[in-house]
Amino acid sequence: MAGLINLTGMGDILPDDWPYYDHVIGQAVEVARLFGYRRIETPNLGQTSLFARTTGEGTDIVEKEMYSFRDRGGEEVSLRPEGTAPVMRAYLEHGMARWPQPVKLFYIERMYRAEKPQRGRYREHRQFGCEAIGSADAYVDVEMICLLDLFYRRIGLDDLSLGINTIGDETCRPRYLRVLVEYLREHESSLAQRDRERLERNPLRVLDSKEAVSQPIIEAAPHMIDFLCDACAAHWARLQRGLAVIGIPFRVDHRLVRGLDYYTRTVFEFAPPRAGSTAVVGGGGRYDALTEAMGAKRIPGVGFGTGLERLVLNIKECGIDVPPPPAPRIYFVHHGPEAEDEALREAALLRRQGVSADLGFGERSVKSQMKHADHAGARYAAIFGEDELESGTVTLRSLRGGGQETIPAGGLKQAVLRGDAAGD
Ligand code: HAM
Repeated sequence: MAGLINLTGMGDILPDDWPYYDHVIGQAVEVARLFGYRRIETPNLGQTSLFARTTGEGTDIVEKEMYSFRDRGGEEVSLRPEGTAPVMRAYLEHGMARWPQPVKLFYIERMYRAEKPQRGRYREHRQFGCEAIGSADAYVDVEMICLLDLFYRRIGLDDLSLGINTIGDETCRPRYLRVLVEYLREHESSLAQRDRERLERNPLRVLDSKEAVSQPIIEAAPHMIDFLCDACAAHWARLQRGLAVIGIPFRVDHRLVRGLDYYTRTVFEFAPPRAGSTAVVGGGGRYDALTEAMGAKRIPGVGFGTGLERLVLNIKECGIDVPPPPAPRIYFVHHGPEAEDEALREAALLRRQGVSADLGFGERSVKSQMKHADHAGARYAAIFGEDELESGTVTLRSLRGGGQETIPAGGLKQAVLRGDAAGD
């Protein structure tokens, strides 16, 4: 039947999963605040040229994964595949260069990439991302990594390993690329077909290939750090010093290059102690030349993105407890039309007073309503039957422990709060 199931790679987040997402999002907002980042949101739809020019024409994202179409006004638009370029667009559009620098922004947004779906890789995913724009200081990179490290620890993922690398800049990277391409060409016959194609389109990406046959060649490839210009070498040294000062362990990964074209100098990724490309839970880097690709003057920046779906998968896999979903404090059970009105009135009153309450609807037996109360995880059931109506009382039953008391109908809030105070 048409339209009754999701598109491939697009998922619903059902209520049982929201405690995990709430936990992750709550910590993201809290940690961003600890570091002085302010929230920004950009539209899901943007000009195709923005993404094509910044993410890079030769990248997988732009070549095969963007959801692009002509809108009704005839403009080429795309669903946002990543968050950095739109945030930079907003920085320029709103004159943030006049604010104190760096401007520190964070977002929690959906991204769209028509990838081949698999575990941890979807066509719609959510990212928590931070961008610090307007400073070229390597200590901003250090702070960015420190923020992400703290976020992972606070959501319970404390076994992730941090890989860092530098990919130089326009001064030193061309010379490295020449040497790298020459080396890879020499060994082209030993590379996997996909890597030979990459060699033509985007040679740096050969370094992070997962193709088994290519591995010995890639392992022995020249390293970018041996070709850095003085400014990039100084940045690289300061980055490592800053991480050492804070005490964040890292491993230099010469093969780390990332899948977007806009990076310069620092790149980094966090991964759990499990193999596989989808195992990377977050990554980012510096993008000092991004604005130039957009046709504006050079403005340095650094940031990261981390996928919420992958974080939740990891949290579940590690058996990490998250705060339980909110359950009603009190559930009203009623028998007979007058009792139903009484329950409706009392529930409304309690909610206005800030006490969460729920009640059964329709003609259901008391037994079925009690079951529902249990299922909802309510702390108390407040039962209105004929006897209670006659005597102006209500029976308050504890759904943990099981004891019950009869109290005047108006005393519900006090009784429920007394229970709170006693911690029962
Ligand atoms: P990215 O590495 O493409 O970087 O994505 C960041 C994170 O988003 C990944 O580490 C992963 O957790 C998650 N992710 C990416 N694609 C998918 C997918 N198809 N399904 C599920 N999760 C996914 C960026 O997007 C950069 N904008 C990060 C950045 C910000 N660099 C500087 N500032």
